[in-house]
Amino acid sequence: MKNYLVAIAALAFIGACSSSASNDKKEAAPAVAATPAANDITSNPDYEKGLTLIAKSDCLTCHKTDSKLIGPPYKDVAAKYESNEANVKLLASKVIKGGSGVWGQIPMTPHPTVSEADAEQMVKYVLLLRK
Ligand code: HEC
Repeated sequence: MKNYLVAIAALAFIGACSSSASNDKKEAAPAVAATPAANDITSNPDYEKGLTLIAKSDCLTCHKTDSKLIGPPYKDVAAKYESNEANVKLLASKVIKGGSGVWGQIPMTPHPTVSEADAEQMVKYVLLLRK
């Protein structure tokens, strides 16, 4: 009789442990699922507007998002510069006037026909690619 009670107690103990472990898993699941939506940069209006302007201009003949072409990959530019007003203005003026010496010896051609507002919109898109 005594052994029987010990066995029941042991089973109850094991049961309590395994049920609390599965509860933990249920609680963690929604938090993981919510993360991609919160970080989805494509839902930012600056993403769509900037990308449209970049696609219309000649930027993509020298720049890719992930890998180096003639210019640095946009992801590297985004990693180097925090997205704030000063950096948006600085990089927009480089797009218009051209730039050199930051990423290597090859210069970026000037884009005098791109307006300041459009250049800033393009840069906002580029800086959104920051991880
Ligand atoms: C002829 C090739 C070429 C074209 C076209 C071009 N780029 Fe560049 N871009 C470069 C090169 C090369 C660099 C690196 C310059 C340097 O080292 O300072 C660069 C650098 C940049 C940078 C970083 C500047 C810095 O000082 O860190 C940004 C932002 C940029 N380009 C955006 C654009 C946008 C937007 C367009 C389209 C309007 C564009 N580029 C078109 C070649 C080009």
